[in-house]
Amino acid sequence: MNVASEKMISAQTTVVDNSQTQLVRVLLVDDQTTVNEALQCMLASEADIAYHYCSSADEALKKAIAVSPTVILQDLIMPDTDGMTLVQQFRECPETCDIPIIMLSTNDDPNTKAEAFAIGINDYLVKLPDEIELIARIRYHSQAYLNRQAHTAALVAQAQAKELEAMLQELRRTQTQLIQTEKLSSLGQMLAGIAHEINNPVSFIFGNLTYIDNYVQDLLDLIQLYQETYPEPESKIQKHLEAIDFDFVHEDLLKTLQSTRIGVERMVQIVLALRNFSRHDHTEMKPSNIHEGIDSTLLILGHRLKQGIEVTRNYGELPLVECYQAQLNQVFMNILNNAIDALMEQESLPNKQIWIQTACLAEDQIEIRIRDNGPGIPVEVQEKLFEPFFTTKPVGKGTGLGLSICQQIMKNHQSSICVNSKAGFGTEFVIQLATHQKVV
Ligand SMILES: Nc1ncnc2c1ncn2[C@@H]1O[C@H](COP(=O)(O)OP(=O)(O)OP(=O)(O)O)[C@@H](O)[C@H]1O
Ligand SMILES: [Mg+2]
Repeated sequence: MNVASEKMISAQTTVVDNSQTQLVRVLLVDDQTTVNEALQCMLASEADIAYHYCSSADEALKKAIAVSPTVILQDLIMPDTDGMTLVQQFRECPETCDIPIIMLSTNDDPNTKAEAFAIGINDYLVKLPDEIELIARIRYHSQAYLNRQAHTAALVAQAQAKELEAMLQELRRTQTQLIQTEKLSSLGQMLAGIAHEINNPVSFIFGNLTYIDNYVQDLLDLIQLYQETYPEPESKIQKHLEAIDFDFVHEDLLKTLQSTRIGVERMVQIVLALRNFSRHDHTEMKPSNIHEGIDSTLLILGHRLKQGIEVTRNYGELPLVECYQAQLNQVFMNILNNAIDALMEQESLPNKQIWIQTACLAEDQIEIRIRDNGPGIPVEVQEKLFEPFFTTKPVGKGTGLGLSICQQIMKNHQSSICVNSKAGFGTEFVIQLATHQKVV
């Protein structure tokens, strides 16, 4: 038995193995077994072509789905379903709609050919075609089909990669937001708790100071009256006056009281700043004074700024801004902390400076600029600045979340934050804040 006859076991079943190397898969649909035999002979020596045959038009669609050919060779006139109808069936089925169809017919009429092309065939050959031409056309259509499929697969892969990337970004954003919410609420709660605890004792010290001032003044007046009435006191009293150095005590007591008052006033300010800073306002936006927010943040950062950093405030006239004040304070805190970190890195810099400037840009927009004369940020770092977890600080010092949290908060306020910086020339963060939130 030669190879061709061995392959001709059944007209209805696949007669050539479709191995991995056979990229070209041909399906012939033709009721005439003689055509099958002829084509099989023509293709027998082509090792890369897998050949399948189906004699019934009714079975053709099922067969095509099963073998997924790269080219269909199809008869025009068949006993059960006519060729034109079968082409339509192939074109309507999602599994076969793109497979190239070469129509094989004894009919050479141009009108018939035109009609067949109009319903979706890719090529037309008169039976029996020349072997070389047939193989060339099979290879051409098959290759074009495989190229189209590869292209579609690449597009699908690209779309999936994009979708994955978007999902990853969304995941990161959610993660940052969770950390931000967690950070804000635990920091806010802690500050509110401390402020509350300190507020009571500070209030009564502050209140008592007024009475102490008055009582001390009364007692000193009384002593003065005694001194005027009894300019020559008894030796016991005179000795005691000398022992306690009364003149010095008199002078120093008033000074001590004065500086105690300044100290307590500062404590009151700090407690107020802490309460302002941690304002529990996650649920609704409130009209807020931005300058108060900046001032309370600066007060809280006082201990860091005292390391030799001069802050210059240049405040414009600002309207109240509808916002979550605690969140905005968090933004000022993150930016100022970064500026302080950057300045403190520059040990040799003699005049470490931070400038804060505010201005009203339009009826519904204000601007806050926070600038430092630190080392500046190289362009390649600027590109990643707002990415979550990006930090240039050593492990354990920075989480890299500060600026990404700022950006998220700005988005929550329909506002923007951007950076102007040049290595060696300091850094400026510009916040443009909407004074009213638009309903979206
Ligand atoms: N004013 C600035 N001057 C120079 N570099 C800055 C300045 N502000 C930010 N950067 C750079 O941007 C990086 C990211 O800042 P970000 O606030 O997001 O994170 P971090 O400060 O490193 O860590 P975290 O704020 O979470 O403690 C910093 O590591 C720093 O390199
Ligand atoms: Mg930071």
